[in-house]
Amino acid sequence: MSAKQTAPNNAPKGRDKDRVVIFDTTLRDGEQAPGASMNLEEKIKIALLLEEMGVDVIEAGFPIASVGDFEAVQEVASLVKNSSVCGLARCSRNDIDRAWEALKGAARPRIHTFMATSPLHMKFKLQMEPEQVHAAVIENVTHARNLCDDVEWSSEDGSRSDHDFLCRMVESAIKAGASTINIPDTVGYAVPEEYAALIRMVMNRVPNIDKATISVHCHNDLGLAVANSLAALGAGARQVECTINGLGERAGNASLEEIVMALKTRADAMPYKTGVDSEFITRASRLVSAITGFVVQPNKAIVGANAFAHESGIHQDGMLKHAGTYEIMTPASVGLNRSTLVMGKHSGRHAFKVKLKELGFEIGDNALNDAFRRFKALADRKKEVFDEDLVALVDDEIQHGHERLKFVSLQVIAGSKGPQSAELEMEIDGKPQVAKTTGNGPVDATFNAIKELVPHTAKLRLYQVNAVTEGTDAQAEVTVRLEEAGKTVNGQGADPDTLVASARAYLHALNKLLTKREKTAPAALRA
Ligand code: KIV
Ligand code: ZN
Repeated sequence: MSAKQTAPNNAPKGRDKDRVVIFDTTLRDGEQAPGASMNLEEKIKIALLLEEMGVDVIEAGFPIASVGDFEAVQEVASLVKNSSVCGLARCSRNDIDRAWEALKGAARPRIHTFMATSPLHMKFKLQMEPEQVHAAVIENVTHARNLCDDVEWSSEDGSRSDHDFLCRMVESAIKAGASTINIPDTVGYAVPEEYAALIRMVMNRVPNIDKATISVHCHNDLGLAVANSLAALGAGARQVECTINGLGERAGNASLEEIVMALKTRADAMPYKTGVDSEFITRASRLVSAITGFVVQPNKAIVGANAFAHESGIHQDGMLKHAGTYEIMTPASVGLNRSTLVMGKHSGRHAFKVKLKELGFEIGDNALNDAFRRFKALADRKKEVFDEDLVALVDDEIQHGHERLKFVSLQVIAGSKGPQSAELEMEIDGKPQVAKTTGNGPVDATFNAIKELVPHTAKLRLYQVNAVTEGTDAQAEVTVRLEEAGKTVNGQGADPDTLVASARAYLHALNKLLTKREKTAPAALRA
């Protein structure tokens, strides 16, 4: 019996012709950004949020690429019910079988298989003749379709492919069973009018094109990914592949939040609908940024810290008279709400719990008690506790809850007289340990103390500090990126004391490395 499952085809039909399918590839193309690695727990968190916000298709990974990718796709496939879950595969039997193995438990599985079609890629990368590429696509799309009802085929480097050849490939892929055809601008080379013309050409020339949804996947090398994607919608594409915060290879992919808000705000010029609830955008942006350590630039459209800030007197005056003078969309429409429940040192546990719920957190009693204790301590030290403070604090509590290496306390001597020293107390598998070390500055002294208690060879690849809110009493949110044996992990820590946040972030990254080591070590070596 075939392993086929019934999956809804996302192709918009009949009255839904203006519905645009939002395909999020934060967990696959986004993760390909150097340093943006995410662990299983983090991928699940992001996938569940994408599902909740109404993303149609979640590309959860490239199952043949690694055991971690396979497990992430499998886990996301088993948890997500309302979005299609997709796994990437080259046009090869092994890739496709592996992708299907990971996807087959999904309510709505999709196999996404790709093969390059540009002369440059075929000759130098694939070292195949066009006819061999053609045959491989037919054979592998057919195989994928025998396993799964929902198959997408991508013509990698489509925007630099020969038009006649591209049309032949698209026609054959549809005949072989692909119901979504993606024409990527893999290297971010296209310009909007040219890209729209390419999509229009495919729509006009491929005889069976009505049996598929045309998808676009644009990279941002020239800063045109969103413009190219929107231009392609005007030409008939009805799926956009994008990522939260525009995360992705090199200069990134088209940003989901910009696509969704452009369509929502300029429905008069672009009459297409998405199923995404835009009020989740800020949460999704913060989650992806916190997990990957990729800070969002302050002037980034939609999700930058300044996207809704009005500084100049003339603008502020205009805003006070009518918000529409300088604001084309409301902060609330992207989920930037200033809530009415203000938290301070007199707030009780119940109000704290209600507030966390408002911010989208539902945590167990133990984590809630720990978070509440930390909130009280924070409120004693800080005049105003903002929503951002609570998000950072609870994220920190969730991330550090069940770790083998736990921060207990830190005492640092800093300043110009030197030597700077640190006394760190931590628990290793529940046992208290203390180290006293010096270093070239307080951060170095702190990290040396950690190294003394947990000897390791991982290299520090990123150390980054962000203020969660304004003011000198703001919490610091620190990201530490460590690399060991070609594996990269990101750790985060938050605290009003930058050095404590640094120690927490370093330990968070080390905990992740320990988990990775346990997973890759043969069973006999595991603790
Ligand atoms: O950029 C690209 O061409 C891709 C394909 C695998 C869709 O990511
Ligand atoms: Zn890509």
